[in-house]
Amino acid sequence: EMIPWSIEDAERGGYEHFMLKEIHEIPKVIEDTLFEYLSEDIEMDASFSAGISEIVFIACGTSYHASLVGKYLIEKLTGIPVRVEFASEFIYHQPPMHRALTIAITQSGETADTLEAMRIAKKLGAKTLAIVNVLGSTATRVADHVLYTRAGPEISVAATKSFIAQLIVLYLIALKLSRLPGSEVNRLIDELRAMPELVRKVLEREGEIEQIAVLISGYENMMYIGRGIGVPIAMEGALKMKEISYIHAEAYPAGELKHGSFALLGEKTPVIASLVPDETYEIMLNNIKEVKARESVVVAVADEDDQEVEKYVDFVIRVPKTEHIFSAITHSVVLQLLAYHTARKRGCEIDKPRNLAKSVTVE
Ligand code: G6P
Repeated sequence: EMIPWSIEDAERGGYEHFMLKEIHEIPKVIEDTLFEYLSEDIEMDASFSAGISEIVFIACGTSYHASLVGKYLIEKLTGIPVRVEFASEFIYHQPPMHRALTIAITQSGETADTLEAMRIAKKLGAKTLAIVNVLGSTATRVADHVLYTRAGPEISVAATKSFIAQLIVLYLIALKLSRLPGSEVNRLIDELRAMPELVRKVLEREGEIEQIAVLISGYENMMYIGRGIGVPIAMEGALKMKEISYIHAEAYPAGELKHGSFALLGEKTPVIASLVPDETYEIMLNNIKEVKARESVVVAVADEDDQEVEKYVDFVIRVPKTEHIFSAITHSVVLQLLAYHTARKRGCEIDKPRNLAKSVTVE
């Protein structure tokens, strides 16, 4: 089995940086990854789903944030308890595994900590499934079972399209394992098929996002907030910003700010708020008001038809309306573009940030 990755694919194709090219490839990556699994039934067959009492994700970096989204989705749609462990911590901590299915997420398939954690999980008696982008990488040989993301080669150190491809596979796993009626699963899959088009609409707003990046580029500290699925969105948004713009960016569940991080807010710390139109919406609006009262500039990422949010924030970046669980996709693309344009305004290297490597093959 070979995927035709040509030399041309690996070139920048007119874009100033690989990162920007890779963000613009996201609609295609979603199509390719969906096609891979929807043309035939996803291979999460009986042997994997039977008797799973728990799922444990192991991953690092951006793949860790995808795992947190996976936990949210699987717990919400299936009722199966899910833990998420940093691979580097799992190795030394070796938590009880019982009859857990281990899901390792790794773009490169070569991250040393993730590989070691997978080997340990196997020794502890767990079945291992790897979600991997690079064909034939070490993780694909260590795992009992592999699901490929179809993101194609990712050159920029900061993961973008591979993260979205990981989310697509996680949506499919959660839907596959879900207890929802078949008609509801089909409806959600139809919504998922519309995501390439919705991401294209997000990309059309790049000019607006660039304007906000001009503002953000003047700060040295930032806070990202969200609730529910908005928490891992915020964490990944902050990671992108740190990695490539070198702005110190923290991410917090919005309801937890009052227990310490409020002290950091004020006019020198803008806040990026992911507002997802689910059961957290109202309380999140309250949290945004609390943040505004502390004089931070607030940029909200919100649905295009949200008339309420603009009353409380300084700027709104609109995303097309979708089933709320899929907001992780549209919001993440916004935050990737925001990080990219902020780093660009600051004159950063972007594709090869200081002190970082694309794949970390040492523990
Ligand atoms: C490195 C990269 C990150 C990546 C992480 C995990 O730190 O710079 O972008 O998220 O490794 O990589 P993996 O290949 O295991 O997903």
